[in-house]
Amino acid sequence: MTAPEALAATPAGEEPLLLRALRSEPLPRPPAWMMRQAGRYLPEYMAVRSTLSFLELCHDADLCCEVTLQPLRRFPFDAGIIFSDILLPLEAMGCPLTFGKGEGPRFPNPVRDRAAIAALKRIDPWRDLPSPLRALQLTTARAGVPILGFAGAPFTLACYLIEGEGSKDWHHTKSMMFTDPEAFGALLDRLAEMVGDHLQAQVEAGAACVQLFDTWAGALAPDDFRRWALPAARKALSKVRGAPTLYFTRDASPFLPWLAEIGADAIGLDWRADMAHARSVLGPHIPVQGNLDPQALAAPPAVVAEKVRAIISAAGPAGHVFNLGHGLVPSSPISGVHAALDAVRGWSWA
Ligand code: CP3
Repeated sequence: MTAPEALAATPAGEEPLLLRALRSEPLPRPPAWMMRQAGRYLPEYMAVRSTLSFLELCHDADLCCEVTLQPLRRFPFDAGIIFSDILLPLEAMGCPLTFGKGEGPRFPNPVRDRAAIAALKRIDPWRDLPSPLRALQLTTARAGVPILGFAGAPFTLACYLIEGEGSKDWHHTKSMMFTDPEAFGALLDRLAEMVGDHLQAQVEAGAACVQLFDTWAGALAPDDFRRWALPAARKALSKVRGAPTLYFTRDASPFLPWLAEIGADAIGLDWRADMAHARSVLGPHIPVQGNLDPQALAAPPAVVAEKVRAIISAAGPAGHVFNLGHGLVPSSPISGVHAALDAVRGWSWA
């Protein structure tokens, strides 16, 4: 890969560290990228956003490409993630979506019964949701590092669809799960099929790797995680060919013993997981990604560096992708991102 502009780049002739880490090759240092690395903590992102809404941005492939490249101009990340949102495919399935000012996402017509589930449209990714695919084509042609595609996992998407918005206890979601398990299972099935197709289309559009975000699966009891979130995520990932896959969930530490069953090539850990413990439970052959607390980027640079080194040291020389334990937030300091990346790039296992 060559980069014609001043962008983070893998040295010519070398295979990207990200792909080598995902094959558990021992490396001199882990590759590093950060979830939500394109976003509101960057003034150049805010400049683009001042001209249009978040959803308008997501539907403009040229601007999604531009915004994906922004952090790669500023920081020496080893990978990028295509700019989009996990909720866009649900809009394409026929569920109107809004992002109010200062609010999270909302589905004004939540999916709460069998008729609403049956009414969900089957989508063809290239026909019904072309913007992330076009954006991937444009971005992979320009970026000097691998670009990840992504999707929401079926359980997490079902949470938003059924609830109609974010929630602390996911009351409506769990109500359907416990009172009409057949309908809930049918919804997860429909979503798993859609997610699998959407991820595979992203691989065909140039994604070097795809990540499944199961942000809310940590809200489940272990037996419900194994009954619902796990098989639905496995079904979605089983459709992906030709690129490594990552599975990320928050608060998943209690589920570590079962995460390998999802069939992802690597597991993303949130910051509450102890890295050494997670690796010992998952086993040495499952690569991990993570897991600095995003809020820790506000610490003095020497403290950030110390925390980064502790994570790398606990993860070991093979099968670790450095990342945060969740996404960057609007208040994340740019100096903290530099401090973390300096510490990763200064590390040497040799
Ligand atoms: O990581 C990246 O840089 C790629 C882009 C990306 C976004 N959202 C952009 C975004 C990715 C991978 C996501 C995933 C996503 N979206 C998840 C799973 C991971 C996670 O963060 O938990 C979820 C649950 C969503 C749904 C979503 N989108 C919510 C709840 C919100 C509002 C919360 C907030 O941060 O304001 C969004 C909006 C959103 N998605 C923004 C960005 C940059 C902020 C929108 C803006 O510019 O106003």
